[in-house]
Amino acid sequence: MTSKRRLVVGVTGATGAIYAVRMLQVLRDVADVETHLVVSPPGVLNIKYELQLTRQDIHALADKVYSFRDIGATLSSGGFATAGMVVVPCSMRTLAAVAHGFSDNLITRAADVTLKERRRLVMMVRETPLNLAHLRNMTAVTEMGGIIFPPLPAFYHHPKTLDDMVDHTVARVLELFDIEVPGPRWNGID
Ligand SMILES: Cc1cc2nc3c(=O)[nH]c(=O)nc-3n(C[C@H](O)[C@H](O)[C@H](O)COP(=O)(O)O)c2cc1C
Repeated sequence: MTSKRRLVVGVTGATGAIYAVRMLQVLRDVADVETHLVVSPPGVLNIKYELQLTRQDIHALADKVYSFRDIGATLSSGGFATAGMVVVPCSMRTLAAVAHGFSDNLITRAADVTLKERRRLVMMVRETPLNLAHLRNMTAVTEMGGIIFPPLPAFYHHPKTLDDMVDHTVARVLELFDIEVPGPRWNGID
């Protein structure tokens, strides 16, 4: 039994692959966290298209990697203890599947398990504009105890670069799992 906290990381085909890569990079420096990664085929497509990285590149950032279709993997069972799961970025398709308990692949099954075990599930949903199905699905996941965290940039920390914006959001999401990483914090207006 590992003494590390296991964080399940699902990567889906919404735009914003940079958030997934940055989160995995940051988590490599957190000694007591072990990342368990599943990437959907559209997630791989976006990683290639947006970042010019390969499937192997993102796999290399995680501690454990699972096949999207491996529905028999440990993550499929509530008996496999985890600190929770983040879906980064989260497509409207995966949001819809989770909202309706549709465990059709290892990401949606692991999210379903996270909710049924009353563990923390954070879905970094990304679409714009939003239709009523998207909004209702976000409400449904929230009602089930999940956290909807769209990766919307903040400006109050005066970001200078895209990396500043991404890092700020990544740090805020990880705080929801009690994982402290370096980054700007809000200290009030002097
Ligand atoms: C370049 C690109 C960008 C996309 N961006 C989004 C997005 O921001 N939000 C979204 O919900 N779907 C987006 N999609 C569509 C999803 O990839 C598609 O619905 C896919 O079926 C999602 O499957 P998954 O949830 O298993 O990854 C995008 C697709 C491509 C090719």
